[in-house]
Amino acid sequence: MPVELPDLPYPRDALQPHLTAATLDLHHGHHQRADVDALNARIAGTELADLALEEIVRASQGGLFEAAAQAWNHAFYWQCLHPRAGGEPHGALADRIARQFGDTQKLREEFNRAALALSGSGWAWLVQHPDGRLAIVTTRNANTPLTGDSTPLLACDLWEHAYYADFQDDRGRYLQAFWKLVNWDFVGARLR
Ligand SMILES: [Fe+2]
Repeated sequence: MPVELPDLPYPRDALQPHLTAATLDLHHGHHQRADVDALNARIAGTELADLALEEIVRASQGGLFEAAAQAWNHAFYWQCLHPRAGGEPHGALADRIARQFGDTQKLREEFNRAALALSGSGWAWLVQHPDGRLAIVTTRNANTPLTGDSTPLLACDLWEHAYYADFQDDRGRYLQAFWKLVNWDFVGARLR
C-alpha cells in the first residue's frame, strides 16, 4: 500500500506571517510530495510496501532510507508547528526543561546554537533519551533520531527549502519564526 502524503494539519496560510503560504506550498506540496513519491516508487512491489512508514525508515538504507526518512521527518515537523502556538511549555515538559536547561529561553538558545552550527542541510531536534533526559541533537541531510534509541519530541527542518522563500539564507531569522510556531502541547504529549 503506498505511503500517503499527509495533509498539513492547518490551512496553508495559517502560519503567516511567520512562514508564508508560498513556503508551505513549496515545502509540503513540492519537496515533501517528491519524497513520498520517490519512496512509493522504490517500495512498490516489495515487502516494504506492507510496512508502516516508521518501520520502513528503520529497515532501509541508501536512497530508499533518504526518501522514507524525509517523508517521516516532514510529517513530524508539521505537527510540531501550530498557528496558535509559540509561547511557553507547561506541565511536566516545563518542569523537565527547567531542571535541565534552567528555563525555556536557555533551551531555545542552545537549540539555535546547534541549528546554526550545522552546515548544509539537516534537522535540529529535541529528543528524550531512554533514561528520561532531554537532549538537543542535529542530524545531517535526511538522518533522523527515529533510527536510534531516543524519542523525537521536536523537529526543526534546516534545509534551505524550509525558509529560503521567506528569509533567503538567513537561518537565524527562520529560527525566530520557528519558535513563534512551536506546538508545545504536541511536544509535551510525546514526553514519556
Ligand atoms: Fe524540508
